[in-house]
Amino acid sequence: MTLTDKPIPRAAGWHILGAGAMGCLWACAMARQDERQAMGSPQVSLLLRDQEALAGYPGQVICSDMEHPLSIPAVAIAGADDQTPLQIHNLLVTTKAQDTLTAVASVANHLSTTSRIVLLQNGLKIQQQLTRLYGAERVFCVSTSHGAWLKAPFDVVHAGNGDAWLGQLDATGTCSRARLQSLRQLLPAEQLNVHIDHDIGARLWRKLAINCAINALTVIHDCRNGELLQIPEARQSLSRLCDEICKVLQAIPEAPPMGDLWTQVQHVLHVTAANVSSTLQDIRRGRHSEIDHLNGYLCELASAQHMPCPVNRAVLQQMRVLESRAIQAHSPTGSERPRQSSPHRSTDRQ
Ligand code: PAF
Repeated sequence: MTLTDKPIPRAAGWHILGAGAMGCLWACAMARQDERQAMGSPQVSLLLRDQEALAGYPGQVICSDMEHPLSIPAVAIAGADDQTPLQIHNLLVTTKAQDTLTAVASVANHLSTTSRIVLLQNGLKIQQQLTRLYGAERVFCVSTSHGAWLKAPFDVVHAGNGDAWLGQLDATGTCSRARLQSLRQLLPAEQLNVHIDHDIGARLWRKLAINCAINALTVIHDCRNGELLQIPEARQSLSRLCDEICKVLQAIPEAPPMGDLWTQVQHVLHVTAANVSSTLQDIRRGRHSEIDHLNGYLCELASAQHMPCPVNRAVLQQMRVLESRAIQAHSPTGSERPRQSSPHRSTDRQ
């Protein structure tokens, strides 16, 4: 591992894995908070995938919210067997869901038993897996409604100001409350409206349900979120998806009651009407989307319950075809890249 700056020595310091739009947005908010608190050099560093990525890093990140670019140190990851004495105290993971396990494993030898891992992925499967792997006390989840996209590498547009909810799966008792309070103090709580949610699991289940209803359809109809309500065929699919998602989740003991999912989905579509969903952004850039962690995961849950899931399965199949076409169209050789891609390049959350 090569450092462009000294490793962060303080337990308050952050390393961000995944320099996509979300990673850059959080990095800038953290660096700005450090500036305000007169911390001297920023207490946040970006973890970039290799020397090449590090060489291409301009040393600063631009965010549409900030008047000037912020200088943020970066570190290149050399691999899982890397021996550089870098200690990661707080790791914010903003890679795509499908790349997160590999990405965290690539820095695992820089984590100690007290390091905190904060996950910002769509879906719920990866949060459950990492909570099991690294321990319920160390793993935190964030669910966010902030909208962001990259104008250029390390140049992020904060397109929609939202909120961020921080919690832990299996969070029970006063210990978890104290852990969440102390972690929130290290986050840019005011700038990014970070709240504590003692039932983040329920929030993530609901977000999963909403993403399963919306995201793939925006790709199938190649439209902004709000347009789904205007296209009769899309409206019909939305309503059928909502019914089926509710039925599947009703059979999952850990999932909370969904209530009226159709009304919630309509609300999200009104509020985010002008947004291009994260899945459509991926497809338009010729990248793998998080679909396996959205409708794909829902279909896995349905199979485990021996339930049919035809509407979601059809949407998943359509998505796979569209995704593979988009990847092929963007590939320089015209041939599809392998599904397993390396972390932190095209895999960061946009
Ligand atoms: O994935 C996304 O883009 C968002 O979660 C949502 C809710 C679809 C709004 O754009």
